[in-house]
Amino acid sequence: MTTPLETLYDAARAFVAATPELAAFAQMPADPASGTLAPNPVPALAHLPMHFPTDAATAEGSALAAAVVEAADQIAWNLTYDEDLVGADFLARYGWFELLGPSGHFVDESLVAFIGYWGPGLRYPWHKHASREIYAVVDGRALFERESAAAREMGPGGVSPHAAWEAHALRTADAPVLALALQAGEDLNGVPIILGDRFVAGEPS
Ligand SMILES: [Fe+2]
Repeated sequence: MTTPLETLYDAARAFVAATPELAAFAQMPADPASGTLAPNPVPALAHLPMHFPTDAATAEGSALAAAVVEAADQIAWNLTYDEDLVGADFLARYGWFELLGPSGHFVDESLVAFIGYWGPGLRYPWHKHASREIYAVVDGRALFERESAAAREMGPGGVSPHAAWEAHALRTADAPVLALALQAGEDLNGVPIILGDRFVAGEPS
């Protein structure tokens, strides 16, 4: 029998394979070992079925969004940041989980695949980390900002690559966003360094 988390994994793997920029970054392994993560519900969980999937998603994105909704109560959700850093409203309408990686629902020592949800009207502050990374919008919309390029608002299928230690940020407007990111390189489970709400290249605010 296939569990909801296995269905979610297969949907994420298919989404990566169908998104050329993600597939060029890395392929998710076909049959990884299962991790031992216990479910960890977060407040944002309750919002997911209201928002996703939408008609704007690609076939693979829609299947992945539906699989996240279906498995949501079995997922080990993380919030990572303290309330004094991002605020209570942010923490109530945000969550992410490591689907694949050293500490993921499925285990891989050299590749992380995580999925994050941000409700409407949120600001994910500028941050940076040792791993190189690529984000892709699964469903919904967001403004993606990064140090090396102009900010871009992106919907389903849009991608934003971040080099190691490149500062980046994310902002939602009227719509929420569900995004998948791949990470490889150094310090795969390291906590990002937060730079703040405003950022000038080379000069954390
Ligand atoms: Fe990042």
